[in-house]
Amino acid sequence: MKPTVAPFPAARLRRTRVTPAIRGLVRQNTLTTDDLIWPVFVRDGEGIEEPVSSMPGVLRRSVDKIAEAAVEAQALGIPAICLFPYTDAALKTEDCAEAWSPDNLCNRAIRAIKAVAPDIAVMTDVALDPYNINGHDGYVVDGEILNDETVEALVKMSLAQAEAGADIIGPSDMMDGRIGAMRSALEAAGHRNVSILSYAAKYASGYYGPFRDAVGASGALQGDKKTYQMDPGNSDEALRLIERDLQEGADMVMVKPGIAYLDICYRVKSTFGTPTFAYQVSGEYAMIQAAAQNGWIDGEKVMLESLMAFKRAGCDGILSYFAPQTARILNG
Ligand code: PBG
Repeated sequence: MKPTVAPFPAARLRRTRVTPAIRGLVRQNTLTTDDLIWPVFVRDGEGIEEPVSSMPGVLRRSVDKIAEAAVEAQALGIPAICLFPYTDAALKTEDCAEAWSPDNLCNRAIRAIKAVAPDIAVMTDVALDPYNINGHDGYVVDGEILNDETVEALVKMSLAQAEAGADIIGPSDMMDGRIGAMRSALEAAGHRNVSILSYAAKYASGYYGPFRDAVGASGALQGDKKTYQMDPGNSDEALRLIERDLQEGADMVMVKPGIAYLDICYRVKSTFGTPTFAYQVSGEYAMIQAAAQNGWIDGEKVMLESLMAFKRAGCDGILSYFAPQTARILNG
């Protein structure tokens, strides 16, 4: 009997991997500097760059240093920078009024960046946790996180940020109805071109630990965020949240954390085809850095591979603490 199959493999898939040129030719996804949003931490003072111990390589910067960092990011071709304030404990109150003060750290940083790096988009975080005595994203009364009262405060906060010059408002609080409320308030105040990038599918995650240290909220946090952030066991709910936020006027949506939630990124992008972002959060960054520092992984390789994974999953961009390091590599 003659063999019915040819004596060579019918499909040599290895042919498309044979040289760097051919691999480049067939590669479906690419990572570019255009994909990056750089989250940074702002603190009080002047001339200060202080390391965040749980996030090796990440600094808390005073406003003047943030402005310098924005100039550098703009030169690297990073399209957006996202501000997170480390607020002095003395400014944290029950009503969180510092959140909408025109001169709070975040708003001062926006103006300082706009003065020296007008072409980089400035994104903000909207939630009460940096200003709240109990570390929660919303008002807490008798152990309950109040939704509608919190939304009112968040609207004031987003207006103050838009007033200071923010290009993209990033509500990370997970209250219901906040996108619609912010959109109408922004429109009414004439901020028609200020975008909203909603942290629409944000999970109650252990991966945020180092961030809470970075913004000084970890000691303050009482309890957990499970009544407003999503349950890691759910995925259909993420689609409902995204759909709702888009209907309320979100221009872009985010899935957070990133690498453990690539299935969500994929479903969101394939269902809605809307600008979709992932947040490679502090814990993901810290894990890669820790393993790299121990010599257990090649940090640079894993960094680039992890960012590519978001592109493959359908994301249009990634918030990553690795943004400047990545841009330097991509720029050659
Ligand atoms: C707060 C906020 C958090 C992050 C971004 N905005 C923490 C939280 O929800 O507790 C986490 C970012 C990170 O871990 O890098 N609303």
